[in-house]
Amino acid sequence: MKDHSVKLSILKILSQGGFHSGEELGERLGISRAAISKHIQGIQAWGVDIFRVQGKGYQLAKPMQLLDHEILSRSLGNNVELIPIIDSTNQYLLDKVDSLESGAVCLAEYQAKGRGRRGREWVSPFGANLYLSMYWRLDAGMAAAMGLSLVVGVAIVEALEEMGLAGVKLKWPNDLYYQDRKLAGILVEMSGQAGAAANLVIGMGMNLMMSENTQGITQPWASLFEVANRQHIDRNQLAITMITTLHRALNDYELHGMAGFVERWNRLDNFIGRQVKLIMGPREISGVARGINEQGAVLLETGNGMESFIGGEISLRPNS
Ligand code: ATP
Ligand code: BTN
Repeated sequence: MKDHSVKLSILKILSQGGFHSGEELGERLGISRAAISKHIQGIQAWGVDIFRVQGKGYQLAKPMQLLDHEILSRSLGNNVELIPIIDSTNQYLLDKVDSLESGAVCLAEYQAKGRGRRGREWVSPFGANLYLSMYWRLDAGMAAAMGLSLVVGVAIVEALEEMGLAGVKLKWPNDLYYQDRKLAGILVEMSGQAGAAANLVIGMGMNLMMSENTQGITQPWASLFEVANRQHIDRNQLAITMITTLHRALNDYELHGMAGFVERWNRLDNFIGRQVKLIMGPREISGVARGINEQGAVLLETGNGMESFIGGEISLRPNS
C-alpha cells in the first residue's frame, strides 16, 4: 500500500486553520519546500481546495474536520477501521470477509475507486463526506438482501430526523434525496454464501460538505450541510450515529423482517404520487409511483392497473 503519511500530516496541520508557509510545513515534517509543494498538488488531486497566498503560505479554502479513530473506537469499540486513503471501502471489506466479524466497519476520507450500482463511479473527495461500509453475515441468506437494503435506507433517514435534520427522502431502491437531488447512496454487495448465510457488505456514501466545484457527478446532488441549514456537522459524531443506526437496523431486520415497514418507507418516498419511469435495460415503463409492497418491490400505477417491479437492474427516474 502506498505511504500517504506526509500528505496526511500536512492535512492535519492545515485542518487546524490559518496559513502555513511551505517553509514551516517543511521544517515540521523534515522535508524541503519543493517536496511540500509537490505533496500539496497531490492533496489537491484528492479534491481538497487549498490556496496559496504569496508571503503567507497555504490555507484550506474551507474548514475541514478529520475523522479520528480514537473518538470512533471510544464509542464503537475496536471493530472499526479508519483507512484514510482507499480504493473503495466496500471492496476492502469484500476482499477479507473470511476474517471479519459481523458488524465490522471500514471508513475512509477519500476513495480512489468509490463505486455505485452497476459499476458507476461514486465521487469521493477527501474529507468532505462520509464513506463507510459494514460487513454483515445475513443468516436468512441472499433472498433477504433486497429487503435489507430498503430497511437500511429508512433507518438512516429516521436517524437524521431524530438529529433534527428534516426533509430527507428516499428514492427506490437505495438513494437518499433532498429537494429532488441525490444526498447519499447505499450499495449492498455480496461475497458468496457461508453455508445458508450470505456475506454482505453494506456501503454508504453521504455528502456532507462537498465543494460546489466538484467534478464528475452527472446528476443534481445535495449535501447534508444544506439540510442542516449550513450549521456545522460533527463528522465523527455523525459517523458514530450512522454506524450505530446501521447496526440496529440490521439486527432489527433479522428479528422482524419487513413487518410494519411499508408505511415507514412510503412516508419517506420522494416520488410517491408523482409521474415516474422505470428503466430496465432497453425497456421503459411509465406510470405514477405508489410506494412499495411487502416484498420491497416498487409499485407503479400504469395503463394496466397497479404493477410491481423488483430487481437490481431497475432505475427509477422522474418523468416530467
Ligand atoms: P439508479 O437509480 O440506477 O441507482 P443512479 O443514477 O442514482 O441510478 P447509482 O449507480 O445509484 O446511479 O449512483 C451512481 C451515480 O451517482 C453516478 O453515476 C453519479 O451520477 C452519481 N454520483 C456519483 N458520486 C456522487 C456523489 N458524491 N453524490 C451524489 N451523486 C453522485
Ligand atoms: C449508489 O448510489 O449507487 C450507491 C453509492 C454507494 C457509495 C458508497 S461510499 C462507501 C462504499 N464504498 C464504495 O465504493 N461505495 C460505497
